[in-house]
Amino acid sequence: MNATATSLHWVAIGPLTAIPRLGARCVIKGDTSIAVFRTSDDRLFALEDRCPNDNGPLSQGIVHDGLVTCPICNWVISLETGAAQGADEGQTQTFPVKLDGDTVYLGV
Ligand code: FES
Repeated sequence: MNATATSLHWVAIGPLTAIPRLGARCVIKGDTSIAVFRTSDDRLFALEDRCPNDNGPLSQGIVHDGLVTCPICNWVISLETGAAQGADEGQTQTFPVKLDGDTVYLGV
């Protein structure tokens, strides 16, 4: 699933307060689970909830400094780009996300 500018559709997924700070909330779209993350300073990011290493649930990882550490074997993934950090190589799909008022919208 690729969200391009021409096909982007914003879907309301609930209030900002439904996503814990330094945590995530999962949204299911079709057969894809998307993890919407909230940082300590209320920035929002959305990634497919699947680690590029071995499909670990990134939504259950530890959020820190714009990154999430996978709970399975500790790869560190950029929330902004979905790319594995350091010596690890892999990529998780990212999705656009925005806040309008107190409502979070996911671009799919
Ligand atoms: S499954 Fe994420 S680090 Fe291995």
